[in-house]
Amino acid sequence: MQPKPVRVLVIHGPNLQLLGRREVEVYGKLSLEEIDRRLEEEAEAVGAELTIVQSNHEGEIVDLIGSSPERADAIVINPAAYTHTSVAIRDALAAVPIPAVEVHLSNIHRREDFRRRSLIAPAAAGQVTGFGPASYRLGLRAAVGLVRGED
Ligand code: DQA
Repeated sequence: MQPKPVRVLVIHGPNLQLLGRREVEVYGKLSLEEIDRRLEEEAEAVGAELTIVQSNHEGEIVDLIGSSPERADAIVINPAAYTHTSVAIRDALAAVPIPAVEVHLSNIHRREDFRRRSLIAPAAAGQVTGFGPASYRLGLRAAVGLVRGED
């Protein structure tokens, strides 16, 4: 029998709609659509059902997180620039009873000083950073494993 699908809300933060055209030397050549396509393949392989949203608006991301327990078992979030600034997103993640995995395409610890600090990390179950588009796939696997209680 197939295990029950794990419902995962994937949130892409600001400017990630520009992937593939934006600072390709840092973020790579893949578009967000292609990253999402690969993520859907991974979801199929691990038995997850995805809701994927990109937003450039902090309040919208806060709303999505706040209402997420109604339709998701876990969150995978790339908060992008809000990683380094948003107490509101951190508080929203801390307020909901479902686990979140923070992901970044680039390794935020190898970049400018201001990127080294994540306000989100203390409210996340863990962080995957620096593996390019694979960060999302690894983050999805981590989220599914958390929900299923795998070691
Ligand atoms: C990012 C890293 C952030 O510092 C930056 O603001 C982004 C993308 C990443 O995926 O590497 O927009 O979250």
